[in-house]
Amino acid sequence: MSTRDRLRIAMQKSGRLTEPAQDLLTRCGLSFRQSRDKLFCFGEGEPVDLLLVRDDDIPGLIAQGVCDLGIVGRNVLSEFQLTAPPEQAELSELRTLGFGRCRLSIAVPQELNYQGPETLQGLSIATSYPGLVGDWLQRRQIQAKVITLAGSVEIAPRLGTADAICDLVQSGGTLVANQLRETDILLESEAVLAGPKQLPADERGDMLELLLKRLDGVIQVRE
Ligand code: PRP
Ligand code: ZN
Ligand code: MG
Repeated sequence: MSTRDRLRIAMQKSGRLTEPAQDLLTRCGLSFRQSRDKLFCFGEGEPVDLLLVRDDDIPGLIAQGVCDLGIVGRNVLSEFQLTAPPEQAELSELRTLGFGRCRLSIAVPQELNYQGPETLQGLSIATSYPGLVGDWLQRRQIQAKVITLAGSVEIAPRLGTADAICDLVQSGGTLVANQLRETDILLESEAVLAGPKQLPADERGDMLELLLKRLDGVIQVRE
């Protein structure tokens, strides 16, 4: 791990977690000099800086030691833990943050006669979460073809490129708009604070401890 004397937190550059994540850090007493369209935000009061990145990149950045912490969906963290090389997958959920609640679910075309996971036997499933879907299928001994797509997963059945999908569902609006219905929940997700299993033993560790204390206070007040 690199030696740095400032703590670095990765968070989503633009998306559903961006605003609540920024808000949470503000409530923890942190403030940053750069605006949101910059990728790096220098912390003004405390030695804590922000890196604004794609959420999918956050676990890898922590595993590489580029960042010390990340605010990321459990879905992204779990997928990383299942698919990264074992020596890299050593990340843990330090705290659950109580926002960005959604679920990772299987959905099928409304007209499909779905009778349970066995119905997926021999079918194809489009998803951005091949690790989580593969694991779920394997535990049920179902053979299905997993097709990995980076986005717009919900359109795959209409295009004829997959029979079913597995994607995040929050309001359910995207499923309805694409004539799909949710059948199985694989994972209940929300934003979490992710970090390495082994916390840094230098000044960053002290700052991290202080940050966790403040975070616990903020989370408690909200509950
Ligand atoms: C997420 C997710 C679903 C949608 C679900 O996509 O991938 O497509 O939101 O939300 P809903 O149930 O409220 O419709 P998002 O638009 O955040 O972006 P992404 O797929 O590009 O990550
Ligand atoms: Zn993403
Ligand atoms: Mg989407």
